[in-house]
Amino acid sequence: MKKLLIVYHTGGVKTANMAEAVERGARGEANITVVVKRCADAGPDDLLAADGIILGTPENFGYMSGMMKDFLERVFYACEGKVNGRPYALFVGAGQDGSGAVTSVERIVLGLRLKKVHEPVIGLKDLTPAILEDCEQLGAAFAAGLSLGVF
Ligand SMILES: Cc1cc2nc3c(=O)[nH]c(=O)nc-3n(C[C@H](O)[C@H](O)[C@H](O)COP(=O)(O)O)c2cc1C
Repeated sequence: MKKLLIVYHTGGVKTANMAEAVERGARGEANITVVVKRCADAGPDDLLAADGIILGTPENFGYMSGMMKDFLERVFYACEGKVNGRPYALFVGAGQDGSGAVTSVERIVLGLRLKKVHEPVIGLKDLTPAILEDCEQLGAAFAAGLSLGVF
């Protein structure tokens, strides 16, 4: 059974709510094992064991959150060269921008040679049902792609 890892940080509740929606969508796919971890609790072994990864972070000061950066710093050299081509996607909770978080994550995962398989979902301002729906669809599409082996 393929394994999907969802790793996220939240400083409040918004990105956590987005992560729950992504997880809900992914769990609709029966043939996938879904593992959800906060950045602080995840490490290289989790990434190495995953067939695909969805990252979630708030945008803080025009960048990914410090905890997401810490996670990526801890896994980078342990996983470099060992996860080439594995699919990833990203969701971001932000106030009014979100682009700095996207750019900063994309630069680092490029170094890990992860493959982007979905456009980032960016939740601006207040969380709406439409944003949560986008998150759920992200999880569902990602899990379906993993299950079918299309990535
Ligand atoms: C320290 C700090 C810095 C922030 N910087 C940005 C920013 O650069 N751009 C932006 O759009 N929102 C910014 N925000 C707003 C957060 O991204 C937004 O409130 C987000 O939804 C928080 O998600 P969370 O509740 O999961 O922590 C910042 C918030 C904090 C607390």
